[in-house]
Amino acid sequence: MKSNLLLILAAGIVGLSACTNNSNKTTTSNADSDSVSTTVMIPDSSNFSATIDGKQAGLYVLKNKNNVQVAITNYGGRIVSILVPDKDGKIVDVALGYDKVAGYQQANEPYFGALIGRYGNRIGKATFTLDGKAYNLPANDNGQSLHGGPKGFHAQVWDAKKVNDYTLELSRVSVDGEEGYPGNLTVKVIYTLTDDNAIKMDYSATTDKTTVLNLTNHCYFNLNGEGNGDINDHILTINASKFTPVDATLIPTGELKDVAGTPFDFTKPTAIGARVNADDEQLKMGKGYDHNFVLTDGSKNLKQAAFVVGPKTGITLEVLTNEPGIQFYGGNFLDGKLNDCKGGKPYQHRTGFCLETQHFPDSPNKPSFPSTTLKPGETYQTSTLYKFGVQK
Ligand code: BGC
Repeated sequence: MKSNLLLILAAGIVGLSACTNNSNKTTTSNADSDSVSTTVMIPDSSNFSATIDGKQAGLYVLKNKNNVQVAITNYGGRIVSILVPDKDGKIVDVALGYDKVAGYQQANEPYFGALIGRYGNRIGKATFTLDGKAYNLPANDNGQSLHGGPKGFHAQVWDAKKVNDYTLELSRVSVDGEEGYPGNLTVKVIYTLTDDNAIKMDYSATTDKTTVLNLTNHCYFNLNGEGNGDINDHILTINASKFTPVDATLIPTGELKDVAGTPFDFTKPTAIGARVNADDEQLKMGKGYDHNFVLTDGSKNLKQAAFVVGPKTGITLEVLTNEPGIQFYGGNFLDGKLNDCKGGKPYQHRTGFCLETQHFPDSPNKPSFPSTTLKPGETYQTSTLYKFGVQK
């Protein structure tokens, strides 16, 4: 037993430091035996030490009093690893990703774990008009703009300030015209790992010209552990009685459709895979779930948007936000072709899901949707929490 305690202690000490040269190894003892049952790793921070576009990238590790650890790189503000205990106290990494920064740079899926901006999800025909002026964006998705463009926030090195063991501040100025968007935008995102096992993300921004903004996080989760099978068995609840149907280019039609009586009804806990192959036009459009849900509580209060359980581990994820919508994306485009994922495991079809809190896709072209316009003198402010627990 002593040796296990020492290992846990050692893991704790290593975990306290950001940008160390060693991997942060967390080990747990099996309650019934003296043997170490699991070893999950925070990637070696030296694999994240790189100069990208003249700026220093690194890996920052947050740790709370429960020994939960979250690793974040300032390359794209990405959540790299989330180490949480399962129902037996075994430590599991529930975030998909890479164990080196080069993996994120080369991936044909560029959004693993990423901070998305300036505009989460799609803008139709990669264009919008503000105050009578048309703005054209890089069309990086089948003629549409997706996730802020190819050099969006996910592909930028952010200025990083590790405030303490559990807080990381990322900031940058996105200059006027970056990826086609107007205004010099000063953005800050504060990641806090709380002692009740939540990753809190506080986004704020100001602009010197009227612009549009919709920030989110694109973490892929697998609550049974990354690389541990598909997510179809996960039990999902989304507190939304409507969703925004899309056309063949995944741009919302503008309609708010009732989920009742459709495979989009997650108002009661339901397995993700239970209806994913149903004969449904919207599921065909999205190649599965890839839709924005309209939160029933559309207020600016922090409220529960979604709750997910990974049945193999009992690990739960509660998503809280003050945003009006959430994109539920079921990993439909993961195809096992991504090499060099964490632990060398390829991520197959639907082995991760995203719950991206947001304003609705294509809002700049949909006057009936809640506005994403940010004006000089205003402060953009949103918060989202990914809170982890266990269900026995
Ligand atoms: C979008 C998907 C897209 C994916 C890229 C999601 O937010 O809704 O359509 O393929 O991001 O990773």
